Amino acid sequence: MTAFTYRQGDLACEQVPLREIVGQLGSPVYVYSLDEIERRYGAYAAAFPDALICYAYKANSSLALCTWLRTLGAGADVVSGGELRVAQAAGVPGGLTVFNGNGKSDAEIAAAIEGGVLSINADAVEELPRLAAVAERLGRRAPVTIRINPGVDPHTHRHIATGVTSSQFGVALAQAEAAYAHLAEFPGLDPVGVHSHIGSQITELGPFVETVDRLADLARRLMRQGFPLRLLDIGGGLGIDYHRWENTDPPTTQPLTPTDLAGALLPRVADLGLRLALEPGRSLVAPAGVLVGQVLHLKHGADTTRVVLDTGMNALIRPSLYEAYHAVSPLKAGTPSLTADVVGPNCESSDVIGRGRRLPALRSGDYLAVMDAGAYGYPLASNYNSRPRPAEVVVRGDRWWTVRPAETWEGLLQGQVGVMEGMGN
Ligand code: LLP
Repeated sequence: MTAFTYRQGDLACEQVPLREIVGQLGSPVYVYSLDEIERRYGAYAAAFPDALICYAYKANSSLALCTWLRTLGAGADVVSGGELRVAQAAGVPGGLTVFNGNGKSDAEIAAAIEGGVLSINADAVEELPRLAAVAERLGRRAPVTIRINPGVDPHTHRHIATGVTSSQFGVALAQAEAAYAHLAEFPGLDPVGVHSHIGSQITELGPFVETVDRLADLARRLMRQGFPLRLLDIGGGLGIDYHRWENTDPPTTQPLTPTDLAGALLPRVADLGLRLALEPGRSLVAPAGVLVGQVLHLKHGADTTRVVLDTGMNALIRPSLYEAYHAVSPLKAGTPSLTADVVGPNCESSDVIGRGRRLPALRSGDYLAVMDAGAYGYPLASNYNSRPRPAEVVVRGDRWWTVRPAETWEGLLQGQVGVMEGMGN
């Protein structure tokens, strides 16, 4: 079951041909399937019936998706005051929200405490005095969990591997008990649990198992020492198969599922009596979204043909930043007859969405969809080259809604000052 299929030759999101959406809104545009998110959240909820599933807002914090996930039952993993504000606007109770991040301002800490979050996850012991000071100023106790770096290699791209010893995130396992002893010195801080997040786009069970074993061991030791822990937060990181669009039958790679994860992890933590929390991002929303762009023209070079699109790294930076692979599908089905690089319009040689792709004959004005762009797409979009960010659309069944309009050239100028009074210009 997948949300994006060809229906009578047209690539559709659920029952809506993407052609209909670009016909009305133009391009580029992000389109998301609510059914796909529901299926994916449902898989987590079924596999982890007693766990708190805190959707990682950084993957995509568009209000419509966060609100949809909230109605499905998800909590929130937020890393900034802005994401906390989105979670509140989406109706997520503080008690279902964890506040992560390795650099929180006093204002963000205060917003988290006042918002009644379940846990503020401290990234360093050096953060504790500031957490305590803000809590004291507010006359509240702050619930705190320490993020542990378990020293586990998640076997993923080095930019998104966070559980290795050299990473800048978390407190090394060897220093964890000392960190909790320090935490106990602050009466205004309430130690609620232990946390790890070892990286993203992880496709093997082993690193998760190793991490959870180490974290569970630590929790057992801390509870023996009298820490009244309630929460075991194992982060996010489950990968997806970005290559599945090329797979003919049978699929060459089987992505890890929430069921696989639960089967391996739940028995290892069952005796702890702690509430399990997960922070999935990508695996909930990546396959639910595409970025649709329009072909401006084909450029026939000496040895490479390039399809030049009206969108690229400004809207979806993953290929440029991580050499990430995204399949590219034509909106109109056709027999592949062309091998081309698909490039964006920005003045950077890394603005390449895909190299050597097999595509049907394309003409100026045709459209392509960049697949699996629902996670870390829009949130990392920029105004580079002064391009407006695309619109966002959600689809359910045969209906669709614009949930964020495209930015405009005029909008980009809003609030800026060109001529400054008194500067003599
Ligand atoms: N929890 C924490 C503390 C995190 O730092 C992250 C992601 C997650 C949960 C969610 O991980 P997920 O389930 O999405 O793998 N921009 C990169 C990914 C960066 C991930 C950062 N942290 C990309 O486009 O691949």
